[in-house]
Amino acid sequence: MKKRKLKKKLIIFLFILLILGIGGVTIYFTKDLFWPDNKPTQTGTEKTAAEILEEQGIKLVNKETFVKEANTLLDKGYSSEEINQIYEHMSENNLKEILKSPYQNLENYFTISNFEFAKLDRYNAYQALLNISYQDAVTKVNLNLDEPFYQTVNEISNPNEVTVLVNKSHALPSDFIPDDLVAIPSFPNYQIKDDAVSDFEALLAAAKLENVNFSPYSTYRSYDKQNKLYNNYLKRDPVDVVDSYSARPGHSEHQTGLALDVRSAGYLDDLSDSDYEWMLNNSYKYGFIVRYPKGHSETTGYQEEPWHLRYIGIEHATKVHELGITYDEYYDLYLTEH
Ligand code: DAL
Ligand code: ZN
Repeated sequence: MKKRKLKKKLIIFLFILLILGIGGVTIYFTKDLFWPDNKPTQTGTEKTAAEILEEQGIKLVNKETFVKEANTLLDKGYSSEEINQIYEHMSENNLKEILKSPYQNLENYFTISNFEFAKLDRYNAYQALLNISYQDAVTKVNLNLDEPFYQTVNEISNPNEVTVLVNKSHALPSDFIPDDLVAIPSFPNYQIKDDAVSDFEALLAAAKLENVNFSPYSTYRSYDKQNKLYNNYLKRDPVDVVDSYSARPGHSEHQTGLALDVRSAGYLDDLSDSDYEWMLNNSYKYGFIVRYPKGHSETTGYQEEPWHLRYIGIEHATKVHELGITYDEYYDLYLTEH
């Protein structure tokens, strides 16, 4: 009798245990239905930071730091449209500067490929001063034309490159001598860089076929030679006049071995008008440009020099010819990283 009672108690105990077990499991799996705010879900309904940007009209960019950057730009006051333009057009360098600086109105500059954010105030000032296009203001300020010539001078780091830019704000090291100077076969007393020799011979031959006869009279000039020349000119003319026709030492293309002064048969140091015309129309086919053409003194810093040829290679010479711009502008627009 005692044994049966004990068995019954054990069965009731096990039954309660089973009910509690089932209840516990049921509550565990259904608790979110009853207490949905207890613990928010991480998946499904919550919006990501990227989706929030997208909802504001910002086009997402596949870049690890994009969300953080876009939010920084929003905080600075850039609109969604401005942010889209920044990512569509601005270089990585400019983006870095923009992210470090207070808000700036960039609407006039988004499509200008050689724009540099750090020079924005100078661009705006130069554009307003001369009432020129924003594109022109950018290129000219990049060439430091909003300052007096020779005020800012950067030392050239690629003096042996055929495309090297030498002007009043880009100077060659005083000890620079081209590494491949050779005599011109047709004019062995004159040296230029080896890179330019065969194209110069081709230019001479093509000209001859059309009865254009010219010869070089000054080609490679050392730093010391340019120094002597410039200082001799100073004995004759005031400095502003000398600066309009002679480069200061270190600033002459002749030191690169890529420039040649040429004269027509029977001329001392110039081309005849008809030979000059031929040169303007044909020299680019052989990689040469007339480096200081008429009407561009404000950009080049020199008077027109029909006789001064500069070798830059056929591809670039052809583009400079087609665009009708100076090599200074071309270099900034197409050969400089901004
Ligand atoms: N006459 C040119 C500008 C020179 O001196 O290089
Ligand atoms: Zn010259």
